[in-house]
Amino acid sequence: MNLNRRDVLRAGMGIALLPLVPSCGGGDKAQYQASTGKILTSKIPLPKPFSVPLPIPPVLKPTRTDGTTDYYEIIQKRATAEIIPGRQTEIWGYNGLFPGPTIVSRSGRRTRVTHRNELPVPVAVHLHGGKTPAEHDGYPIDLIMPAAGMSGHGSHVMGGRVSNLQKEYDYPVDQPAATLWYHDHRMDFTGPAVWRGLAGFHIVHDDVSDALPLPKGDHDVPLMILDRAFAEDGSMAYPSISRDLNGAAGVTDSFTDGVMGDVILVNGAPWPVMEVDNTRYRFRILNASNARRYQLALDPARTQFVQVGSDAGLLGAPVRHSRIPIAPAERFDVVIDFSAYPVGSEVTLLNTFGDNGTGQIMRFRVTRQARDESSIPARLADFERLSPASATATRKLNFTLGADGDQMAWAINGKVFDPNRADVQSRLGTVERWQIITDQHHPLHIHMAHFQVLSRANESRVRPTDAGWKDTMDIPDNELVEVLVKFTGYQGRYVFHCHNLEHEDMGMMGNLDVT
Ligand code: C2O
Ligand code: CU
Ligand code: CU
Repeated sequence: MNLNRRDVLRAGMGIALLPLVPSCGGGDKAQYQASTGKILTSKIPLPKPFSVPLPIPPVLKPTRTDGTTDYYEIIQKRATAEIIPGRQTEIWGYNGLFPGPTIVSRSGRRTRVTHRNELPVPVAVHLHGGKTPAEHDGYPIDLIMPAAGMSGHGSHVMGGRVSNLQKEYDYPVDQPAATLWYHDHRMDFTGPAVWRGLAGFHIVHDDVSDALPLPKGDHDVPLMILDRAFAEDGSMAYPSISRDLNGAAGVTDSFTDGVMGDVILVNGAPWPVMEVDNTRYRFRILNASNARRYQLALDPARTQFVQVGSDAGLLGAPVRHSRIPIAPAERFDVVIDFSAYPVGSEVTLLNTFGDNGTGQIMRFRVTRQARDESSIPARLADFERLSPASATATRKLNFTLGADGDQMAWAINGKVFDPNRADVQSRLGTVERWQIITDQHHPLHIHMAHFQVLSRANESRVRPTDAGWKDTMDIPDNELVEVLVKFTGYQGRYVFHCHNLEHEDMGMMGNLDVT
């Protein structure tokens, strides 16, 4: 057979894909400013906001360590979780948890994670923001096949670096302190896999970050924000018509703009509440939603977010924001100083891009007076601003609808993803200027190579929230942005894509060959 993998997958689907009908800026879009997506509505009564305590994902313990390396094991499996109080929800979880356990690495020490696949579908694990050799980056057809099912012919038709049952991912962690995350990255099926729960934090520390007087310990809190919807049986059903050979749900029909839910979860709990001292806290905020974009704000706004880190590491100096727009997969490392609020106050983290339920994210209850040993220094880490003069190539990339055979799909320069096609070649050690043009809201993500935002055509300047090294950026509709990408790390085939997961699954992804 001489079909590429996408054709094989589609040939194996029980129901053919429908022609893609782009939404024409209807109610959803007007209401949910610049999130490209459609809301799936829950069929069960939703819990009262701010009644469930904020969970903190457990930190994974290494199974062993030696002089250079920490070794971990994760089993990907089905489990049930009580997400909505009194209801059981089936999830797909790393170690059966949603979010997955947090991995904590030290810059310069290797981290090796053996993932065992006990799910009914193939998986690929990507460390988002990691500088990882290509064979360990979770390339979309580098799959770990499940125990039963398609492993025999799967490895035959798919062509990637296919492993059976388990794979050891080797991360050199030769990069500075940052808040990374890991999630599923299987070609055409990332949206449903992450929706069911395959996402976790991977935090990197280094000597520079350890030496800073920022809040530490239980005052350094990861917050994974995402939206979901719950079906009558309590499940997080993914709206889908397509099936792969194992019957797993894939890309969507009327939800091809992106799947959004009506329940906001933080660390897997609906609109949770956290009791805090009246001191500074550091929050590592991740938007792990498939498609929803948020704008974070505090209510009452007696203080600001003080940003200390971006996607890929610490900033040179702190930046204050009263609002933070955050696109899928972006991270903001911020300090909130609750001494601005009297003990007894309630402070709500809002999403000013949402309404009613989705307009709120979580609540902080300032319950205790405490001494604060932390501070925010004026200088955080060395930061090298890239100059456009250093760019050795300029590339234009259109993130717009394109033709996929006789169907329309999300595409880059008119082409949907093909693992066998060369798209962009970049030389290790160089800096390039990338110009991204969008039709709708498309968050750009580049694997392995980090970048800095240079310009936004529709905004008079780069946003304050664009500061620092980025691996993902928020790009609204009908925009032209420029970024400077620095290719340090490893050679090999990587990808860049829209991080709206439904767009990615439809094909808005390209190969990046670092040579
Ligand atoms: Cu977070 Cu290619 O992904
Ligand atoms: Cu990534
Ligand atoms: Cu997109």
